[in-house]
Amino acid sequence: MVRFSSELLLFTVCAAAYQEAESTNGQQQRIIQSPVEPGSVQRKLQGRFLHITDIHPDPFYKAYSITDGDHPCHGKAGKGDAGYFGAEMTDCDTPFTLVNATFDWIEKNIKDDIDFVVWTGDSARHDNDEDYPRSSKQVADLNRYTVDQFVRIFGKTGKIDPKNPLDSFVVPIVPTYGNNDILPHNIFTKGPNRWTREFEDIWRGFIPQEQKHSFARGGWYFSEVIPNRLAVFSLNSLYFFDSNSAVDGCDAKSEPGYEHMEWLRIQLEFIRERGMKAILTGHVPPARTESKQNWDETCFQKYTLWLRQYRDVIVASIFGHMNVDHFMFQDVAELKYKFKIDGLESEDYEAEEGFDIARDTSPVDTLGAKKAYLSELHDSWAGLPKPPKGASYNPLNSSIEADLVKRRKRKGGKKKKQKEIDKFYKQIGGPWGERFSLTLVSPSVVPNFFPTLRIIEYNITGMEREHPASHIMGTPAEVFYGQLDDVTEIPPEEPLRAERRRRDTEDVDVQKKRRKKKKKKPKRPPKPNFPVPLPPKSSSAPGPAYSPQALSLISWKQLYANLTEINAAHKESANSNGKHKPGNGPSVDYKLEYNTSHDKYYKMNDLTMMSWLHLAERIGREELQHGDVEISERLDESDAVTNIAEEADWTDLGVDDSDFDSDHESESQDVHASKKGGKKKKNKKAKKKKMKNHLWKEFLRRAYVHTMTDDELDEIFGS
Ligand SMILES: *[C@@H]1O[C@H](CO)[C@@H](O)[C@H](O)[C@H]1NC(C)=O
Ligand SMILES: *[C@@H]1O[C@H](CO)[C@@H](O)[C@H](O)[C@H]1NC(C)=O
Ligand SMILES: *[C@@H]1O[C@H](CO)[C@@H](O)[C@H](O)[C@H]1NC(C)=O
Ligand SMILES: *[C@@H]1O[C@H](CO)[C@@H](O)[C@H](O)[C@H]1NC(C)=O
Ligand SMILES: *[C@@H]1O[C@H](CO)[C@@H](O)[C@H](O)[C@H]1NC(C)=O
Repeated sequence: MVRFSSELLLFTVCAAAYQEAESTNGQQQRIIQSPVEPGSVQRKLQGRFLHITDIHPDPFYKAYSITDGDHPCHGKAGKGDAGYFGAEMTDCDTPFTLVNATFDWIEKNIKDDIDFVVWTGDSARHDNDEDYPRSSKQVADLNRYTVDQFVRIFGKTGKIDPKNPLDSFVVPIVPTYGNNDILPHNIFTKGPNRWTREFEDIWRGFIPQEQKHSFARGGWYFSEVIPNRLAVFSLNSLYFFDSNSAVDGCDAKSEPGYEHMEWLRIQLEFIRERGMKAILTGHVPPARTESKQNWDETCFQKYTLWLRQYRDVIVASIFGHMNVDHFMFQDVAELKYKFKIDGLESEDYEAEEGFDIARDTSPVDTLGAKKAYLSELHDSWAGLPKPPKGASYNPLNSSIEADLVKRRKRKGGKKKKQKEIDKFYKQIGGPWGERFSLTLVSPSVVPNFFPTLRIIEYNITGMEREHPASHIMGTPAEVFYGQLDDVTEIPPEEPLRAERRRRDTEDVDVQKKRRKKKKKKPKRPPKPNFPVPLPPKSSSAPGPAYSPQALSLISWKQLYANLTEINAAHKESANSNGKHKPGNGPSVDYKLEYNTSHDKYYKMNDLTMMSWLHLAERIGREELQHGDVEISERLDESDAVTNIAEEADWTDLGVDDSDFDSDHESESQDVHASKKGGKKKKNKKAKKKKMKNHLWKEFLRRAYVHTMTDDELDEIFGS
C-alpha cells in the first residue's frame, strides 16, 4: 500500500497533483495532494465532530421583557420573565449573551476534541416582529457576527487572514444556508444573486478556492475535512424547499434545483472514484409524512434516489431547521420511478399508502403540528417489516444471521422458517437494510426548548495518524456548467410530467378512486428523464452508513443547557440592580442529555442503518416495556437525564397559550382545558392514559429536549 505523505509535497491550488495509489480495499483511487505548509504542526484526528444549528442571534432581545405577544422578548425590560440567557420554551430568538456563552463553552470544553464543525444554518433572527423589521444589512450582519464567534473560538489568530482567508481556522468549519439567512426569508433565487455574492464574502474563510465559481451558481460546495478521506457537502436546501416560491423543484433543467442535483451527482461520483466518503449537510431536511412535506416532491424523489445510488459513499445526512430532535428514513419504496436499481426492482418493496395528499410545508411550529408530524413518523415506523424468529434488526446479529442464512440454505434446513427469514431480508434490502437511507436532525441552539449541541463520534480506525485539513480545501470534479445540457440522457418520457400535472389538479376523491383502480391493474411506471447516478460497483462492500467501518458514525452526545436553572441562578446571584460584577455571574453550562450508545433506552452499538431500524421498529410497537429491551446492569444513571422535569407545570414553564391553537388536535385541546382548569384539577385527573411504549416516550422526551413532563406527553400522545 502506498502511503501518501502530503507533508513532503508542495502544493499549488490550481494544479492539484494527481497520482494513482492503492487504497485499503484494493481499489484504484486518485489522490489529490492536500495543501500543507512545510513545518506546520498539525493536530491528529480525534474521531469527533460538532454539529451546531439554528443559532438565531437577536440583537433586540431584552432580558426581563415579555416573552409572548407581538414583540417576543423585544419589549420593555422589567415587565416579563425573559431570562438573562434566553427565554426557554418560547418563540423568542437567542440573546447575544447565550451565543457568547455557548461559544465560550465550546472553547473550554470541546474545541480541542473535534476534527471539524458542521453548521447547518439560520444564523440570523426570525422575521417575527413588525416593529423590528429585518433588513438585508441586518441579516448579513448577524451572519457576520456568528462567523466572528467561530473566528473567536476556532480562529488561528483571532481574525480572518485577509491575504489567505482559507488558512484562518484550526479545524474546517462547514456552514450552510438557512431559510432565515436571506431576505425575504425562504426566497432564494437562481444564482448568482445578491445572497450568493454576500456570502462569498461572509464565508470567505470556508469556501474552497476551487469552488468559488460553483458556489456563485447556487451556494453549494463541499469541503475536504480529512484530506483524501472525507468531504462534507454543504447543500443549498432552499432550492428544494417547498416554501421557496422563486424556484420550482428539481425536474426542469432550467431550475437551480435540477442543477444542484446534477452537481451533487457529479461530485459524489468523483468522491467515489477517489475512494473517499461524504457527509451531506443542509438546513431544511427532507421531512415527508402525510401532514408535512418540506421539500418539493421532485427534489425528494431525486434525493432519495441519489442516497440510494451513492450508499457506498455517503456516511450520513445531517440537517437542522425543525428544532425537534429526531431522525427519518428515506425509503426506496417511495421512489416513483420504478426501474431496476442494481438487481432490485424498486417495485419489490411495499410502499406505504396515502402520500399524495396536499401537505403542510410551514415549520412544525405549534404543538399540534408537532404532534401530528411525530405521530406520523411513529406510524411509519410501526409499518416497518417485522423480523420473524431467527432474524432481527439488531446489527450485532445481522451479519451473523446473514451467515447463518447462507449456511442453512446450503444444508436445506427448515424450509418454511427459512422462507420467512429470506422474505424479511428481501423486504429490508438485504442484511444491511439497504432499502433505507437516513436523515438526522439535531435540535437547535435557539431555545425553543432548551439550547443544544451535538457531538458526534465517528470511526477513525486506520487513520489515527492522519489529521483534519489544515487549510480549507476541496478540489471538485471538473464540470462546466455551460455544458450541463450535453449530459447524455435517458430519453424523456412524457407521462411523468403529465401524471404530475394530473395529480396536482385532481381532487382527493378522484385520486383515491384512481389509486384503488391502479392497485388492481398496475400501469407501467414512469422512467426517469434525467441521468440516473450509477450504483455502487457490484464488488464493493456495504457503505459506512450500513456496515461499521472507518468513518462510520459510532455514537453521539446530545448536550443541553437548562436555561430555567441557569437563568434563575443568574437572577438570584445578581445584586439589587440585576447586575453582576463583570465576569462574576453564573454562566451557561451544557450538560449531557443522552448518549446514543450509553443509556438505558437507545443503547445503540453504533449508528449504522440496522441500529436505526432496530430502534425505530421498537419505537413503533404498540407496547414495549422495559423488560423488552436488554437493560444494562452497569448503567450509570448519573450520566444522563431520564425522568426529569416531573414536577414542572405548564404555567411555571411560561409556555404561551398560542401553542395550543384551538384548531389543532383534540389532544392539545385537552391540555388546553386542563391548563385553564388549573393545577389542582390536572393533578387529580388520575386515569390518564399512559403511553405503553417506554421507548416511544423516551424518543418524545428527547424530541422536546426534556422540556415536557411525562404527564404532558401522556396527555398529548397517550391516546
Ligand atoms: C460577548 O463576548 C465578547 C468577547 O468576549 C464581549 O466583548 C461582549 O461584550 C460579549 N457580549 C455579550 C452580550 O455578552
Ligand atoms: C442475537 O439475537 C438473539 C435473539 O434473537 C440473542 O439471544 C443474542 O444474544 C444476539 N446475539 C448478539 C451477538 O447480539
Ligand atoms: C471501526 O472500524 C473498524 C475497521 O473497519 C472496525 O473493525 C470496528 O469494529 C469499527 N468500530 C466500531 C465501534 O464500529
Ligand atoms: C458515548 O458513551 C460511550 C461509552 O461511554 C463512549 O465511548 C462514547 O465516546 C460516547 N460518545 C461521545 C460522542 O462522546
Ligand atoms: C431544569 O431546571 C429546572 C429548575 O431547576 C428543573 O425543575 C428541571 O427539572 C430541569 N430540567 C432538566 C431537563 O434538567
